[in-house]
Amino acid sequence: MKNKIEELKLFLRSKGQEHLLNGFDSLKTDQQKELVREISTIDWTLLEEIPLERSGEVTPIAPMTLKEIKLRSAEFEKEGVRLLREGSVAAVMLAGGQGTRLGSSAPKGTYDLGITKPVYIFECQIKNLLEVTEKYGVRVPLLIMTSEGNDGMTRRFLKEHAYFGYPEEDIYFFQQDMAPCTDLNGKILLDDKCGIAFSPNGNGGWFSSMRRAGLVETVKARGVKWFNVFSVDNVLQRIADPVFVGATALSGNDSGAKAVKKTSPEERVGVLCNRGGRPDIIEYYELDERMANLRDQEGELLYGSGVILNYLFRLSALEEIASQKIPVHRAKKKVPYFDGEKVITPETENAYKYETLILDLIHLLNGCLPFEVEREREFAPVKNRTGTDSVDTARELLKKNGMEL
Ligand code: UTP
Repeated sequence: MKNKIEELKLFLRSKGQEHLLNGFDSLKTDQQKELVREISTIDWTLLEEIPLERSGEVTPIAPMTLKEIKLRSAEFEKEGVRLLREGSVAAVMLAGGQGTRLGSSAPKGTYDLGITKPVYIFECQIKNLLEVTEKYGVRVPLLIMTSEGNDGMTRRFLKEHAYFGYPEEDIYFFQQDMAPCTDLNGKILLDDKCGIAFSPNGNGGWFSSMRRAGLVETVKARGVKWFNVFSVDNVLQRIADPVFVGATALSGNDSGAKAVKKTSPEERVGVLCNRGGRPDIIEYYELDERMANLRDQEGELLYGSGVILNYLFRLSALEEIASQKIPVHRAKKKVPYFDGEKVITPETENAYKYETLILDLIHLLNGCLPFEVEREREFAPVKNRTGTDSVDTARELLKKNGMEL
Protein backbone atom coordinates (compact mmCIF):
# COMPACT_ATOMS: atom_id res chain seq x y z
CA MET A 1 0.00 0.00 0.00
CA LYS A 2 2.82 2.40 0.95
CA ASN A 3 4.52 2.10 -2.46
CA LYS A 4 1.20 2.50 -4.16
CA ILE A 5 0.55 5.73 -2.28
CA GLU A 6 4.01 7.08 -3.15
CA GLU A 7 3.28 6.33 -6.80
CA LEU A 8 -0.10 8.03 -6.55
CA LYS A 9 1.53 11.07 -4.95
CA LEU A 10 3.97 11.35 -7.85
CA PHE A 11 1.18 10.97 -10.35
CA LEU A 12 -0.95 13.63 -8.66
CA ARG A 13 2.04 15.95 -8.47
CA SER A 14 2.47 15.60 -12.24
CA LYS A 15 -1.14 16.76 -12.58
CA GLY A 16 -0.76 19.58 -10.04
CA GLN A 17 -3.24 17.85 -7.71
CA GLU A 18 -1.07 16.54 -4.88
CA HIS A 19 -3.20 18.43 -2.32
CA LEU A 20 -5.79 15.65 -2.62
CA LEU A 21 -3.65 13.51 -0.30
CA ASN A 22 -2.95 16.27 2.25
CA GLY A 23 -5.12 14.73 4.97
CA PHE A 24 -4.46 11.12 3.91
CA ASP A 25 -2.43 10.04 6.93
CA SER A 26 -5.14 11.06 9.37
CA LEU A 27 -7.80 8.93 7.61
CA LYS A 28 -8.95 5.47 8.77
CA THR A 29 -7.92 2.56 6.50
CA ASP A 30 -11.33 2.24 4.84
CA GLN A 31 -11.47 6.01 4.23
CA GLN A 32 -8.01 5.89 2.68
CA LYS A 33 -9.15 3.10 0.39
CA GLU A 34 -12.23 5.07 -0.56
CA LEU A 35 -10.24 8.18 -1.41
CA VAL A 36 -7.80 6.18 -3.56
CA ARG A 37 -10.75 4.57 -5.33
CA GLU A 38 -12.41 7.92 -6.00
CA ILE A 39 -9.18 9.34 -7.40
CA SER A 40 -8.83 6.33 -9.67
CA THR A 41 -12.19 7.11 -11.29
CA ILE A 42 -11.20 10.63 -12.41
CA ASP A 43 -11.31 11.18 -16.16
CA TRP A 44 -8.28 13.46 -16.47
CA THR A 45 -8.95 14.37 -20.10
CA LEU A 46 -11.96 16.39 -18.97
CA LEU A 47 -9.77 18.75 -16.94
CA GLU A 48 -7.40 19.45 -19.76
CA GLU A 49 -9.82 21.83 -21.40
CA ILE A 50 -9.76 20.93 -25.05
CA PRO A 51 -9.70 24.10 -27.14
CA LEU A 52 -12.70 24.70 -29.33
CA GLU A 53 -11.57 23.69 -32.78
CA ARG A 54 -13.70 26.15 -34.61
CA SER A 55 -12.33 27.52 -37.82
CA GLY A 56 -13.86 28.69 -41.05
CA GLU A 57 -16.23 31.41 -42.01
CA VAL A 58 -19.55 31.60 -40.22
CA THR A 59 -22.51 31.97 -42.55
CA PRO A 60 -26.26 31.78 -41.93
CA ILE A 61 -28.20 28.59 -42.52
CA ALA A 62 -31.76 28.83 -43.78
CA PRO A 63 -34.17 26.70 -41.77
CA MET A 64 -36.85 24.54 -43.26
CA THR A 65 -39.68 26.93 -42.44
CA LEU A 66 -43.10 26.16 -41.00
CA LYS A 67 -44.57 27.02 -44.40
CA GLU A 68 -42.35 24.55 -46.26
CA ILE A 69 -42.99 21.88 -43.65
CA LYS A 70 -46.74 22.36 -43.93
CA LEU A 71 -46.63 21.98 -47.70
CA ARG A 72 -44.71 18.69 -47.49
CA SER A 73 -46.02 17.39 -44.18
CA ALA A 74 -47.94 14.43 -45.67
CA GLU A 75 -44.79 13.20 -47.45
CA PHE A 76 -42.64 13.67 -44.34
CA GLU A 77 -45.17 12.03 -42.06
CA LYS A 78 -45.45 9.00 -44.36
CA GLU A 79 -41.67 8.48 -44.32
CA GLY A 80 -41.47 9.09 -40.58
CA VAL A 81 -44.24 6.61 -39.84
CA ARG A 82 -42.55 4.05 -42.09
CA LEU A 83 -39.33 4.44 -40.08
CA LEU A 84 -41.23 4.29 -36.79
CA ARG A 85 -43.04 1.11 -37.88
CA GLU A 86 -39.69 -0.45 -38.82
CA GLY A 87 -38.52 0.25 -35.26
CA SER A 88 -35.80 2.63 -36.50
CA VAL A 89 -36.32 5.37 -33.93
CA ALA A 90 -35.35 5.45 -30.27
CA ALA A 91 -36.00 8.33 -27.87
CA VAL A 92 -33.25 9.50 -25.53
CA MET A 93 -34.20 11.62 -22.54
CA LEU A 94 -31.36 13.66 -21.06
CA ALA A 95 -32.14 13.64 -17.36
CA GLY A 96 -28.69 13.67 -15.81
CA GLY A 97 -28.52 17.40 -15.06
CA GLN A 98 -28.66 18.81 -11.54
CA GLY A 99 -31.34 21.41 -12.25
CA THR A 100 -29.66 23.88 -9.93
CA ARG A 101 -31.65 26.86 -11.22
CA LEU A 102 -34.91 25.15 -10.26
CA GLY A 103 -33.57 24.88 -6.76
CA SER A 104 -34.73 21.35 -5.93
CA SER A 105 -32.33 18.54 -5.16
CA ALA A 106 -34.75 15.92 -6.53
CA PRO A 107 -34.51 14.86 -10.21
CA LYS A 108 -36.08 17.57 -12.40
CA GLY A 109 -38.49 15.08 -13.95
CA THR A 110 -40.11 14.48 -10.56
CA TYR A 111 -41.10 18.16 -10.28
CA ASP A 112 -44.87 18.57 -9.95
CA LEU A 113 -46.31 21.31 -12.19
CA GLY A 114 -49.90 20.53 -11.19
CA ILE A 115 -52.26 22.95 -9.46
CA THR A 116 -55.37 20.89 -8.69
CA LYS A 117 -53.72 17.50 -9.23
CA PRO A 118 -50.17 16.19 -9.65
CA VAL A 119 -48.70 16.72 -13.13
CA TYR A 120 -45.07 15.68 -13.10
CA ILE A 121 -42.50 16.70 -15.69
CA PHE A 122 -41.74 13.03 -16.45
CA GLU A 123 -45.47 12.44 -16.88
CA CYS A 124 -45.68 15.24 -19.49
CA GLN A 125 -42.78 13.78 -21.47
CA ILE A 126 -44.12 10.25 -21.44
CA LYS A 127 -47.60 11.46 -22.36
CA ASN A 128 -46.11 13.26 -25.36
CA LEU A 129 -44.32 10.11 -26.50
CA LEU A 130 -47.37 7.91 -25.89
CA GLU A 131 -49.37 10.15 -28.22
CA VAL A 132 -47.14 8.97 -31.07
CA THR A 133 -46.77 5.31 -30.11
CA GLU A 134 -50.54 4.94 -29.59
CA LYS A 135 -51.60 6.91 -32.65
CA TYR A 136 -49.41 4.89 -35.03
CA GLY A 137 -49.33 1.60 -33.09
CA VAL A 138 -45.52 1.59 -32.85
CA ARG A 139 -42.93 0.81 -30.19
CA VAL A 140 -40.20 3.32 -29.42
CA PRO A 141 -37.44 2.37 -26.98
CA LEU A 142 -37.07 5.14 -24.40
CA LEU A 143 -33.54 5.50 -23.04
CA ILE A 144 -33.24 7.65 -19.95
CA MET A 145 -29.87 9.13 -19.06
CA THR A 146 -29.44 9.75 -15.35
CA SER A 147 -26.40 10.62 -13.26
CA GLU A 148 -24.93 9.26 -10.06
CA GLY A 149 -26.83 11.63 -7.78
CA ASN A 150 -30.30 11.13 -9.26
CA ASP A 151 -30.26 7.63 -10.73
CA GLY A 152 -31.85 5.77 -7.81
CA MET A 153 -34.56 8.38 -7.24
CA THR A 154 -35.40 8.55 -10.95
CA ARG A 155 -35.80 4.79 -11.27
CA ARG A 156 -37.84 4.51 -8.07
CA PHE A 157 -40.10 7.41 -8.99
CA LEU A 158 -40.89 6.09 -12.45
CA LYS A 159 -41.48 2.57 -11.16
CA GLU A 160 -43.79 3.83 -8.40
CA HIS A 161 -45.81 5.65 -11.07
CA ALA A 162 -45.89 2.58 -13.31
CA TYR A 163 -43.85 4.51 -15.90
CA PHE A 164 -46.91 6.69 -16.49
CA GLY A 165 -48.28 3.97 -18.73
CA TYR A 166 -45.19 3.44 -20.90
CA PRO A 167 -44.34 -0.25 -21.49
CA GLU A 168 -41.61 -1.19 -18.99
CA GLU A 169 -39.91 -3.44 -21.54
CA ASP A 170 -39.30 -0.39 -23.75
CA ILE A 171 -37.56 1.63 -21.04
CA TYR A 172 -33.79 1.55 -20.49
CA PHE A 173 -31.75 3.54 -17.99
CA PHE A 174 -28.10 4.44 -18.20
CA GLN A 175 -25.88 6.66 -16.13
CA GLN A 176 -23.70 9.39 -17.51
CA ASP A 177 -20.11 9.86 -16.43
CA MET A 178 -18.98 12.31 -13.80
CA ALA A 179 -16.28 14.99 -13.84
CA PRO A 180 -14.42 16.41 -10.85
CA CYS A 181 -15.07 20.03 -9.88
CA THR A 182 -12.11 22.30 -9.24
CA ASP A 183 -11.60 25.58 -7.45
CA LEU A 184 -10.99 28.65 -9.60
CA ASN A 185 -7.26 27.78 -9.72
CA GLY A 186 -7.94 24.36 -11.19
CA LYS A 187 -7.40 22.39 -7.97
CA ILE A 188 -9.79 19.46 -7.60
CA LEU A 189 -12.22 19.85 -4.67
CA LEU A 190 -13.09 17.25 -2.06
CA ASP A 191 -16.70 16.99 -0.85
CA ASP A 192 -15.78 15.25 2.39
CA LYS A 193 -12.72 13.65 3.97
CA CYS A 194 -12.46 10.91 1.43
CA GLY A 195 -14.65 11.95 -1.49
CA ILE A 196 -14.02 13.97 -4.64
CA ALA A 197 -16.59 16.67 -5.49
CA PHE A 198 -17.92 15.22 -8.73
CA SER A 199 -20.64 16.64 -10.99
CA PRO A 200 -22.28 15.21 -14.14
CA ASN A 201 -20.00 15.70 -17.17
CA GLY A 202 -22.55 17.51 -19.35
CA ASN A 203 -25.03 16.28 -21.93
CA GLY A 204 -22.44 15.92 -24.74
CA GLY A 205 -21.36 12.52 -23.44
CA TRP A 206 -24.73 10.83 -23.83
CA PHE A 207 -23.67 8.59 -26.72
CA SER A 208 -20.40 7.42 -25.17
CA SER A 209 -22.14 6.75 -21.84
CA MET A 210 -24.90 4.84 -23.61
CA ARG A 211 -22.33 2.83 -25.49
CA ARG A 212 -20.40 2.02 -22.33
CA ALA A 213 -23.64 0.78 -20.77
CA GLY A 214 -24.01 -1.67 -23.70
CA LEU A 215 -27.27 -0.09 -24.79
CA VAL A 216 -26.21 0.90 -28.30
CA GLU A 217 -25.88 -2.79 -29.11
CA THR A 218 -29.21 -3.52 -27.42
CA VAL A 219 -31.15 -0.98 -29.47
CA LYS A 220 -29.30 -1.84 -32.67
CA ALA A 221 -30.54 -5.39 -32.21
CA ARG A 222 -34.04 -3.86 -32.10
CA GLY A 223 -33.39 -2.18 -35.46
CA VAL A 224 -32.77 1.37 -34.23
CA LYS A 225 -31.09 3.69 -36.75
CA TRP A 226 -32.04 7.12 -35.40
CA PHE A 227 -31.96 8.68 -31.94
CA ASN A 228 -34.32 11.50 -31.02
CA VAL A 229 -32.49 13.16 -28.14
CA PHE A 230 -34.29 15.70 -25.97
CA SER A 231 -34.00 17.54 -22.68
CA VAL A 232 -36.07 16.46 -19.71
CA ASP A 233 -37.39 19.94 -19.06
CA ASN A 234 -39.28 21.06 -22.17
CA VAL A 235 -42.74 19.86 -21.26
CA LEU A 236 -44.29 20.64 -24.65
CA GLN A 237 -41.73 18.56 -26.47
CA ARG A 238 -42.88 16.49 -29.45
CA ILE A 239 -40.95 13.23 -29.21
CA ALA A 240 -40.46 10.80 -32.13
CA ASP A 241 -42.45 13.29 -34.19
CA PRO A 242 -42.94 11.49 -37.52
CA VAL A 243 -42.89 14.71 -39.57
CA PHE A 244 -39.50 15.67 -38.11
CA VAL A 245 -38.17 12.12 -38.51
CA GLY A 246 -39.33 11.91 -42.13
CA ALA A 247 -38.05 15.38 -43.06
CA THR A 248 -34.60 14.70 -41.58
CA ALA A 249 -34.26 11.25 -43.16
CA LEU A 250 -35.41 12.46 -46.59
CA SER A 251 -33.04 15.45 -46.40
CA GLY A 252 -30.08 13.05 -46.35
CA ASN A 253 -28.54 14.83 -43.35
CA ASP A 254 -26.95 12.98 -40.44
CA SER A 255 -28.84 15.10 -37.97
CA GLY A 256 -31.80 17.39 -37.54
CA ALA A 257 -32.44 20.12 -35.00
CA LYS A 258 -35.78 21.52 -33.99
CA ALA A 259 -35.60 25.29 -33.79
CA VAL A 260 -37.85 28.19 -32.94
CA LYS A 261 -37.73 31.63 -34.50
CA LYS A 262 -35.89 33.91 -32.09
CA THR A 263 -38.16 36.53 -30.55
CA SER A 264 -35.45 39.22 -30.64
CA PRO A 265 -31.77 39.50 -31.60
CA GLU A 266 -30.92 39.39 -27.89
CA GLU A 267 -32.77 36.19 -26.98
CA ARG A 268 -30.46 33.86 -25.09
CA VAL A 269 -30.58 30.73 -27.22
CA GLY A 270 -27.96 28.99 -29.33
CA VAL A 271 -28.51 29.50 -33.07
CA LEU A 272 -27.81 27.26 -36.01
CA CYS A 273 -25.26 28.34 -38.61
CA ASN A 274 -22.69 27.02 -41.07
CA ARG A 275 -19.06 27.19 -40.07
CA GLY A 276 -16.46 26.31 -42.66
CA GLY A 277 -19.06 24.35 -44.61
CA ARG A 278 -20.24 22.31 -41.60
CA PRO A 279 -23.29 22.78 -39.44
CA ASP A 280 -22.72 24.41 -36.11
CA ILE A 281 -24.48 26.10 -33.23
CA ILE A 282 -23.31 29.45 -31.91
CA GLU A 283 -24.08 30.06 -28.28
CA TYR A 284 -25.81 33.38 -27.57
CA TYR A 285 -22.76 34.79 -25.79
CA GLU A 286 -20.60 34.10 -28.87
CA LEU A 287 -22.90 35.93 -31.29
CA ASP A 288 -21.77 39.53 -31.64
CA GLU A 289 -24.28 42.36 -31.85
CA ARG A 290 -23.75 42.96 -35.57
CA MET A 291 -24.39 39.32 -36.49
CA ALA A 292 -27.28 39.03 -34.09
CA ASN A 293 -29.02 41.93 -35.86
CA LEU A 294 -28.47 40.86 -39.48
CA ARG A 295 -31.72 40.38 -41.39
CA ASP A 296 -32.73 39.01 -44.79
CA GLN A 297 -34.88 40.80 -47.39
CA GLU A 298 -38.07 39.76 -45.63
CA GLY A 299 -36.78 41.23 -42.39
CA GLU A 300 -36.15 37.86 -40.73
CA LEU A 301 -33.07 37.47 -38.52
CA LEU A 302 -30.33 35.67 -40.47
CA TYR A 303 -29.10 34.03 -37.27
CA GLY A 304 -32.59 33.51 -36.00
CA SER A 305 -33.08 29.72 -35.61
CA GLY A 306 -32.84 29.07 -31.88
CA VAL A 307 -32.25 25.45 -30.91
CA ILE A 308 -34.54 23.88 -28.31
CA LEU A 309 -32.53 20.74 -27.46
CA ASN A 310 -34.52 18.32 -29.58
CA TYR A 311 -32.24 16.61 -32.08
CA LEU A 312 -32.26 13.63 -34.39
CA PHE A 313 -28.98 11.77 -34.88
CA ARG A 314 -28.24 9.02 -37.37
CA LEU A 315 -26.71 6.16 -35.39
CA SER A 316 -24.19 5.14 -38.09
CA ALA A 317 -22.87 8.73 -38.23
CA LEU A 318 -22.46 8.84 -34.45
CA GLU A 319 -20.46 5.62 -34.59
CA GLU A 320 -18.15 7.14 -37.19
CA ILE A 321 -17.31 10.12 -34.99
CA ALA A 322 -17.32 8.22 -31.70
CA SER A 323 -13.53 8.35 -31.28
CA GLN A 324 -13.37 12.10 -31.91
CA LYS A 325 -13.05 14.40 -28.94
CA ILE A 326 -15.54 17.14 -28.32
CA PRO A 327 -14.63 20.35 -26.51
CA VAL A 328 -14.91 20.59 -22.76
CA HIS A 329 -16.58 23.74 -21.44
CA ARG A 330 -15.82 25.17 -18.02
CA ALA A 331 -18.66 26.82 -16.12
CA LYS A 332 -18.37 28.83 -12.87
CA LYS A 333 -20.73 27.44 -10.21
CA LYS A 334 -21.26 27.29 -6.47
CA VAL A 335 -19.97 23.95 -5.26
CA PRO A 336 -19.91 22.85 -1.59
CA TYR A 337 -16.47 21.58 -0.61
CA PHE A 338 -14.47 20.13 2.28
CA ASP A 339 -11.79 22.53 3.50
CA GLY A 340 -9.80 19.96 5.49
CA GLU A 341 -12.00 20.31 8.58
CA LYS A 342 -15.59 20.89 7.55
CA VAL A 343 -17.89 21.20 4.55
CA ILE A 344 -18.30 24.79 3.32
CA THR A 345 -21.38 25.86 1.37
CA PRO A 346 -20.26 28.88 -0.66
CA GLU A 347 -22.36 32.02 -1.11
CA THR A 348 -20.70 32.95 -4.40
CA GLU A 349 -19.32 31.01 -7.34
CA ASN A 350 -16.20 29.29 -6.10
CA ALA A 351 -15.63 26.48 -8.54
CA TYR A 352 -15.59 25.23 -12.10
CA LYS A 353 -17.69 22.38 -13.42
CA TYR A 354 -16.45 20.68 -16.59
CA GLU A 355 -18.99 19.72 -19.22
CA THR A 356 -19.27 18.57 -22.80
CA LEU A 357 -22.32 19.83 -24.69
CA ILE A 358 -24.58 18.02 -27.10
CA LEU A 359 -24.54 20.98 -29.49
CA ASP A 360 -20.84 20.32 -30.18
CA LEU A 361 -21.73 16.92 -31.66
CA ILE A 362 -23.62 18.64 -34.46
CA HIS A 363 -20.44 20.27 -35.80
CA LEU A 364 -18.78 16.88 -36.24
CA LEU A 365 -21.59 15.53 -38.38
CA ASN A 366 -22.12 15.85 -42.11
CA GLY A 367 -25.11 18.07 -42.14
CA CYS A 368 -27.99 19.11 -39.96
CA LEU A 369 -31.52 19.96 -41.01
CA PRO A 370 -32.76 23.05 -39.16
CA PHE A 371 -36.45 22.28 -38.67
CA GLU A 372 -38.66 25.16 -37.56
CA VAL A 373 -41.37 24.49 -35.00
CA GLU A 374 -44.05 26.67 -33.44
CA ARG A 375 -42.77 28.04 -30.17
CA GLU A 376 -46.19 28.17 -28.48
CA ARG A 377 -46.83 24.52 -29.28
CA GLU A 378 -43.42 22.94 -28.71
CA PHE A 379 -41.28 24.98 -26.38
CA ALA A 380 -41.99 25.26 -22.68
CA PRO A 381 -38.72 24.73 -20.81
CA VAL A 382 -38.72 24.57 -17.02
CA LYS A 383 -35.39 26.07 -15.98
CA ASN A 384 -36.31 28.46 -13.17
CA ARG A 385 -39.00 28.66 -10.48
CA THR A 386 -40.28 32.03 -11.70
CA GLY A 387 -39.58 34.50 -14.52
CA THR A 388 -38.43 33.39 -17.97
CA ASP A 389 -38.45 29.69 -18.83
CA SER A 390 -39.98 28.88 -15.49
CA VAL A 391 -42.61 26.80 -13.75
CA ASP A 392 -45.00 29.75 -14.26
CA THR A 393 -44.41 30.14 -18.01
CA ALA A 394 -44.53 26.38 -18.59
CA ARG A 395 -47.88 26.14 -16.74
CA GLU A 396 -49.35 28.90 -18.93
CA LEU A 397 -48.16 27.18 -22.10
CA LEU A 398 -49.41 23.77 -20.98
CA LYS A 399 -52.85 25.28 -20.31
CA LYS A 400 -52.85 27.00 -23.71
CA ASN A 401 -52.22 23.58 -25.25
CA GLY A 402 -55.21 22.10 -23.52
CA MET A 403 -53.56 20.42 -20.55
CA GLU A 404 -55.49 20.42 -17.28
CA LEU A 405 -53.30 21.29 -14.34
P1 UTP B 1 -29.28 22.34 -18.52
O1 UTP B 1 -28.14 22.92 -19.24
O2 UTP B 1 -30.54 23.14 -18.46
O3 UTP B 1 -28.81 21.94 -17.06
O4 UTP B 1 -29.58 20.94 -19.16
P2 UTP B 1 -29.61 21.43 -15.80
O5 UTP B 1 -28.65 20.64 -15.00
O6 UTP B 1 -30.89 20.73 -16.14
O7 UTP B 1 -30.02 22.75 -15.04
P3 UTP B 1 -29.14 23.88 -14.31
O8 UTP B 1 -28.33 24.55 -15.38
O9 UTP B 1 -28.29 23.18 -13.28
O10 UTP B 1 -30.19 24.76 -13.71
C1 UTP B 1 -30.25 20.73 -20.37
C2 UTP B 1 -30.61 19.27 -20.44
O11 UTP B 1 -29.44 18.46 -20.42
C3 UTP B 1 -29.51 17.54 -19.33
C4 UTP B 1 -30.47 18.14 -18.34
O12 UTP B 1 -31.02 17.13 -17.50
C5 UTP B 1 -31.47 18.79 -19.26
O13 UTP B 1 -32.39 17.85 -19.76
N1 UTP B 1 -28.15 17.35 -18.76
C6 UTP B 1 -27.41 18.43 -18.41
C7 UTP B 1 -27.70 16.10 -18.56
O14 UTP B 1 -28.40 15.10 -18.86
N2 UTP B 1 -26.46 15.94 -18.04
C8 UTP B 1 -25.68 16.96 -17.68
O15 UTP B 1 -24.55 16.76 -17.19
C9 UTP B 1 -26.17 18.26 -17.88
